[in-house]
Amino acid sequence: MSKKRVAIICGGRSSEHSISCISAKGVLEAIDRNLFEPILIGITLRGKWVALKSADDFGVGSDGLPIIPDTAPGINADVHGLKNAEGAPLAIDLAFPLLHGAYGEDGTIQGLFEMADIPYVGSGVLASSVAMDKTFAKPIYADFGLAVADGITVHQRDWIAQRELEIAKIKALGLPVFVKPARSGSSRGTTKVKSDSEIAPAIEEAHRHDPRAMVEVAIKGREIECAVLEINGKAHASVLGEIRVHEPHEFYDFEAKYLDGSTTFDVPANVTPEIARAISDAAVTAFEALGCEGLARVDFFLTEENQVIINELNTMPGFTSMSVFPMLWKATGKSYSEIITQLCESALTRPKNVIR
Ligand SMILES: Nc1ncnc2c1ncn2[C@@H]1O[C@H](COP(=O)(O)OP(=O)(O)O)[C@@H](O)[C@H]1O
Ligand SMILES: [Mg+2]
Repeated sequence: MSKKRVAIICGGRSSEHSISCISAKGVLEAIDRNLFEPILIGITLRGKWVALKSADDFGVGSDGLPIIPDTAPGINADVHGLKNAEGAPLAIDLAFPLLHGAYGEDGTIQGLFEMADIPYVGSGVLASSVAMDKTFAKPIYADFGLAVADGITVHQRDWIAQRELEIAKIKALGLPVFVKPARSGSSRGTTKVKSDSEIAPAIEEAHRHDPRAMVEVAIKGREIECAVLEINGKAHASVLGEIRVHEPHEFYDFEAKYLDGSTTFDVPANVTPEIARAISDAAVTAFEALGCEGLARVDFFLTEENQVIINELNTMPGFTSMSVFPMLWKATGKSYSEIITQLCESALTRPKNVIR
């Protein structure tokens, strides 16, 4: 078999730009070069596509983290495929969009690949966009028998027209509540609200990110994650991991996730075999409920009463060698290189998502 040319696409227009660059660097180091020829493509924060030779071409942002430089030669991406600045086709066999959040994990770039007939790693248009929007994903999980946190959606137009009514609905849920943008990521715009006076600022903060804010009762429980990988068309669950957030963080917020090393990750999670089985089964159910493909990280709460509550599913989870998804698969017996090969093979062998 000739080597497959894989476009490793990273950066992007979301707040997870730098994390995506770090994921791409890891994938470039680990991808099996006997099988694949990686071609690195960056998307700048403003959305320009550029050609990069290697991760050495990344710039450094004001926060010291990698960013895609504007100055690199442009790439043209449209419904006819990818071309370099001179107009020559890149002739790629598949795309690996290592992008998180808006324009990467939400179905939009997946739509471009479908239009251009480019096979790609990960979920299709519908699963990507449903998983991205927590208010749409939740009723589907519930319909498939998974427990979800009680909550409501507060639309910005209703907040403007009938704020008192919306506040009454929130109070009826019982504080504390979590307020988050429907399409949040990296805990951006998310607030834990413990008193009445904090409700309005929290809703307004969430609305700065998304016209729909989701308000949920705060679940008291452990945070357990499971990595689902599709192998030969079937979803497989990894062993479980537990995220433990330490003081002063009240929850798994942006700083705790990436910046100050105040979280501990236990693999495997210290739970009974029965609980582990229940969570793995729930992870596969969630993956199938949304129609996911390739991979997903499914995040749960485990309450003191041993109730398993699904929090969210990420269709393109953090993918650096130290991220939860690769670590959970390593503990399950598949190396970082092996899961990359698996993802590319699934992408090359599955049928198109569009029905003709
Ligand atoms: N209903 C909830 N109860 C308890 N903690 C929550 C709840 N919703 C969110 N959190 C906390 O906030 C974090 C981020 O929320 P999450 O829904 O996972 O959004 P994101 O997509 O930004 O990761 C979670 O990991 C958890 O620590
Ligand atoms: Mg989360």
